[in-house]
Amino acid sequence: MLNTNPNQVALRGPALTFKDNPFLVGDDAAMHYEPDALVLVQDGTVREFGDYTALRDTISPETPVTHYPDSLILPGFIDAHVHYPQLQVMGSFGTRLIDWLNTYTFVAEQQFSDEAYAEKVAEIFLHETLRSGTTTAAVYCTVHPQSVNGFFRAAEKTGQRMIAGKVLMDRHAPEALTDTAQSAYDDSKALINDWHNRGRLMYAITPRFAPTSTPEQLEAAATLWREHPDTYMQTHTSETVEEVAWVKKIFPQHRNYVDVYAQYGLTGPRAIFGHAIHLSDAEWQQLADSDSSIIHCPTSNTFLGSGFFDAVRATGAGSAQGPVRTGLATDVGGGTSLSMLKTMGEAYKVGQFAGHALSAPKAFWMATAGSARALHLDDRIGTIRVGAEADLLVLNLRSTPLIDFRMQYCNSLAEALFIQMTLADERATRAVYIGGQLKYHDARQSAAHTR
Ligand code: GUN
Ligand code: ZN
Repeated sequence: MLNTNPNQVALRGPALTFKDNPFLVGDDAAMHYEPDALVLVQDGTVREFGDYTALRDTISPETPVTHYPDSLILPGFIDAHVHYPQLQVMGSFGTRLIDWLNTYTFVAEQQFSDEAYAEKVAEIFLHETLRSGTTTAAVYCTVHPQSVNGFFRAAEKTGQRMIAGKVLMDRHAPEALTDTAQSAYDDSKALINDWHNRGRLMYAITPRFAPTSTPEQLEAAATLWREHPDTYMQTHTSETVEEVAWVKKIFPQHRNYVDVYAQYGLTGPRAIFGHAIHLSDAEWQQLADSDSSIIHCPTSNTFLGSGFFDAVRATGAGSAQGPVRTGLATDVGGGTSLSMLKTMGEAYKVGQFAGHALSAPKAFWMATAGSARALHLDDRIGTIRVGAEADLLVLNLRSTPLIDFRMQYCNSLAEALFIQMTLADERATRAVYIGGQLKYHDARQSAAHTR
């Protein structure tokens, strides 16, 4: 049927979103499950969400309804920490963080001085995120402004909401990958003017981590952030014990690693810290008190042998320091997959080592609403809710023969979710909608139109 109201899109099927934080209120109280939902999108945002039968009259008569009866409609996944230029070093053998950076990463990143190359890799990255059901990411580019221009140009085409920034490094890196305090400031400022809040794109001031910036550069980053307080500041902290020892050596006057960032004015709302594994009580407290965000990157942490993040301490109300905004991320190329499902499965395994079993609703919350909250975007994305941006993932719950078989023995929604995060990957992505527009669909499965 010809749709004469092309700005309206109607999806029908089982849907899951979160109305609260399961770490604080419990899984059942946090979930909002609709066994037969209507998600009605008008001009890119959700206009109606709820029981299909109750809401069907709100659909324009000429709008076709796309029906996904045996799937699950979810908010798109949010990968809150990932390096697009590292796609080409995923799965590099045999090293821990610092050697991995020097041996593989700092070599690959040098290619991103070439803007055409950067844009090509960005296109591959963005397509792969779509295939994985990821609709927003917080992305590290390289030290080259070209790597940011190439990335944002590619992201403008897919329409995904993307946060990204030029990496700042003025020491402890190859010459070809270093800037200076001044050029870092000048180049980042120009990129903010060109890209921040252009459409759905947002800028993150991105000092790589304390060891690769001089105090002057950290100060320059903080000055720029103060001048543009609605941008983000993203960096790494306390990922490995060797790195913590290194920071202690080169910043001897500071109490601890987080204190280095705090003293230079790089903590606070919209400060996004990747990893945060080897934290002292004082650092937990500093992160909580400053309302900074931390991002769990489990496949990276197991691959590089970095350690086990304590998600319950981070997000739980019972923790001494109180809850910290916590997101979930792939951290490719330290991470081994762009699939947030695989990332959730790894988060479960890390949780087992850290002494707690991460429930499926908590993992799905972290990958959607939790990451949105960590990125201060929970008013726009991360949930299915009237007024939210319509970035939606339709998950095929029987994406492989083995999962199909396993699902025959599944007795609850929580179990179905746990099976997905343990066994499934990007093959489970049936469709992805960005602002209500279909941007990816699994060619093996066509959707039914009910009228
Ligand atoms: N710490 C500083 N840079 C990086 C990076 O590129 N990846 C990871 N995993 N950790 C880092
Ligand atoms: Zn990283």
